Amino acid sequence: MEENTKGVADKVRTPKILVTGACGQLGSELTEQLNKIYGVENVVISDLKEPVKKTTNHFEALDVTDTNRLYEIIESLEITQIYHLAAILSAKGEENPHIAWRINMDGLLNVLEAGRRWKLDKIYWPSSIAVFGVNSPKNPTPQNTVIEPSTAYGISKHAGELWCQYYHDQFGLDVRSLRYPGLIGYQGLPGGGTTDYAVDIFHKAVQGEKFTCFLSKDTVLPMMYMPDAIKATLDLMEADKEKLSVHTSYNIQAISFSPEEIFNEIKKSYPSFTTEYAPDFRQKIADSWPEVIDDAQARNDWNWEPNYDLKSMVADMLKNLKEIKDLALVQNH
Ligand code: NAD
Ligand code: SER
Repeated sequence: MEENTKGVADKVRTPKILVTGACGQLGSELTEQLNKIYGVENVVISDLKEPVKKTTNHFEALDVTDTNRLYEIIESLEITQIYHLAAILSAKGEENPHIAWRINMDGLLNVLEAGRRWKLDKIYWPSSIAVFGVNSPKNPTPQNTVIEPSTAYGISKHAGELWCQYYHDQFGLDVRSLRYPGLIGYQGLPGGGTTDYAVDIFHKAVQGEKFTCFLSKDTVLPMMYMPDAIKATLDLMEADKEKLSVHTSYNIQAISFSPEEIFNEIKKSYPSFTTEYAPDFRQKIADSWPEVIDDAQARNDWNWEPNYDLKSMVADMLKNLKEIKDLALVQNH
């Protein structure tokens, strides 16, 4: 370990942001908002592979477990903030738990250590409701409670939260984090989580296909519409540092529903839509997670408040997916 960086993050400089895992479900939408705030020239995107969507952001191929490559990018592009999104999610993580642990843990430790060495101004890193386990209270799940995750993903997020707090306490690194619930958006497909059904169901409805749900109809989980997730992220990153009392990761809550409840809401617009339930290995993961999150600390410290409920989220998702479908039909003719 080299010099201590305590206090250095207080200096103000023009942000030059690096987003890791930027081509994923969250990264592709968050980048658009960061571009609007900081300018596309100040937002560098990175991922394992080139983005599929056309982008004007500077792109760097980066495997976050490659320490030297990360350091090279930070130094050569004079990065001052990192949004570290690259990860293997819960369901995919169970296919190879050791790989999930390595990518999630080594990636985060590389970013935190880079933050200390390069005296970065701020780091954002998402945690998840997956830190909670069967012994955590389910409704509501408090900010501070029993944390015994059952997936490799959840274990990596729990350990990651403690490392974030460690770098904050030991080195004064300004690292901020949210425990996202399942994220729902229309722009990209999710990357292998237990909450993915709540995105897939919309695509099937709009395509006029039958939906097979991998969770049982009454499995209630906390979810959030992407615009609220992005608002929460940016609000937290803009919040006055002195007001932040949680240095592991903040609980945030928006909407809790079961597959049957979201199906019934979609059916109001697509009356012939049908769903069947065929729970698989993801049911056990979902059964270990909370139903409703107590986010009083986030509301108190930085005024967190979501905008979307189930009804308004479903309406907006269906409207946007229908527009995308109609546009594709026009372009194919
Ligand atoms: P995603 O799977 O859609 O995207 C992750 C991205 O990381 C992908 O583009 C992938 O190519 C990239 N990646 C994987 N391994 C990498 C590596 N070794 N080096 C560099 N890039 C790598 O996931 P997402 O939904 O966008 O999630 C982003 C972050 O938010 C993750 O940390 C995830 O744990 C967290 N999160 C997401 C949700 C959700 O519902 N989507 C919920 C809670 C937390
Ligand atoms: N939505 C994520 C998952 O299902 C939660 O972190 O993995």
